[in-house]
Amino acid sequence: MKKILFVEDSVRDLRSLQRKLRKAGVEWKSAFAAGGPAALERLGREKFRVLVAGIPESGAEMFQFLGRVRELYPHMVRIVVSGQLNHAVVLESTGLAHQFLSKPFDPEALRVAIDRACSAENLLQDEALAKIVLETGSLPSLPSLYAEVLQEAESPGCSLDRIGEIISKDVGMSAKILQLAGSAFFGYPRRVTSIAKAVLVLGLETIKALVLSAKVFSRFEKIDLPGICIARLWDHSLATGLMARSMATQKDLAQSTIDAAFMAGLLHDVGKLILLDRLPGKYSEINLMINGSHCGLPDAEQKVLGTTHAQIGAYLMTVWGLCEPVIEAIAYHHCPSRCANQGFGVLTAVHLANALEHGDDAGTDGLDHEYLDRLGVGLAEYSETRAG
Ligand SMILES: [Fe+2]
Ligand SMILES: [Fe+2]
Repeated sequence: MKKILFVEDSVRDLRSLQRKLRKAGVEWKSAFAAGGPAALERLGREKFRVLVAGIPESGAEMFQFLGRVRELYPHMVRIVVSGQLNHAVVLESTGLAHQFLSKPFDPEALRVAIDRACSAENLLQDEALAKIVLETGSLPSLPSLYAEVLQEAESPGCSLDRIGEIISKDVGMSAKILQLAGSAFFGYPRRVTSIAKAVLVLGLETIKALVLSAKVFSRFEKIDLPGICIARLWDHSLATGLMARSMATQKDLAQSTIDAAFMAGLLHDVGKLILLDRLPGKYSEINLMINGSHCGLPDAEQKVLGTTHAQIGAYLMTVWGLCEPVIEAIAYHHCPSRCANQGFGVLTAVHLANALEHGDDAGTDGLDHEYLDRLGVGLAEYSETRAG
């Protein structure tokens, strides 16, 4: 049974939350605490998987409480419900929350967020992964700009203009989106001069994927380790995303699968960023092992860490509440045969795109031929996609 602790500052808010949850027929084992001190006392006595905290207008005390929870229970998933967008920015910069939901409180959105957070907990049944996640410390927050775009995208009166306005507030992100929208990658023949136009040209799902991945990469761009180039990893991820998207399109898959292929391609190596940032010593050891032998990256990671960047990336994306096909594609992008889901889908496109994108560096050695043969995938047909 999923155990969730709900915290609200005022008893009145807590009662209203309890009523709404009861009405929504939630199946979690829930506990409620009025304010931070009561919640800390409860956490000291019982183990919870997920914390859901409502942030009042002046959030200072609740921020302090979340900081304490992060310190004492770094691996509990922290979901925050707040009516104020500036709270999301503070929470992202301080790493105090993994997911944000907006007030007024929507039980359905909360149900989805909690279900996804709980499946992250299931992944930690793998002891080696649990150990590495523990060593990396508290995982980073979902980027607040993405959370803001997501909130608007999921609101009943969602407007593309409003999404354009949200992105325009972030100068760095606007420049990046305009540059990408105007590049040959997206095949739009004219110059894109405004974010509103970029949203229209690229489409909402592409914009969401670009915002999330560009924010994640910019957070780690300062990583400075010998032989590591984050800009090159971004180029590889973008190329993989574009190629996976065009493979899924070529295969006539559903639009939601095509969008997920792009998102998963962009984020497939996100676990490397976590490892490089949090465990640089271990990563140097992995690099030495690769250079001194014919050992591939996933094998070297498995030997040193007992897990891989693919599994760590999938874990973070689960904590952030991304959808199942994206998580599955990230988790198995080097070994698709191990995935229970064996049809041609997001994972197939990302696996192929990643291996082909490595091209001259890795040849086709990174391909799982047994898996591809089973699906009847002929490589010649997809090698062409590289040029497109
Ligand atoms: Fe990878
Ligand atoms: Fe890759």
